[in-house]
Amino acid sequence: MFCESFTDKVIEHFMCPRNAGSMPDADAEGTCGDPSCGDSLTLYIKVKDDVIEDISFLVFGCVAAIATSSMTTELVKGRTLEEALKLKDTDITEALGGLPENKLHCSVLGATALKNAIENYHNKMNEHKGANEQ
Ligand code: FES
Repeated sequence: MFCESFTDKVIEHFMCPRNAGSMPDADAEGTCGDPSCGDSLTLYIKVKDDVIEDISFLVFGCVAAIATSSMTTELVKGRTLEEALKLKDTDITEALGGLPENKLHCSVLGATALKNAIENYHNKMNEHKGANEQ
């Protein structure tokens, strides 16, 4: 059974993921896929005054992908974009009390999708600024 190799925290986030679901009125979104296993994560963010006011996710993936996606949202909700950009996959893994060696790569989805969402947000803001300047 999968429970043997995962921490209680991982199981808790897998069984009861935080901030799960899409966000139709998101300000930006970022996706990351792992071609080696076919798993994929999309993170949605709402931003106000450079702070991540709300965040949610949709993931197709393994136990660890679900738990790390959930933990990613918890770690950056209420943080500034600058703070959120510093989040590393190891921070996510540590917050979950660790992952089995063969599942460490799953935490990369969360950190990378978050960076992509923030980049998407900055691009949209720049486009918006550019449109207003014309
Ligand atoms: Fe694919 Fe976990 S096995 S993200």
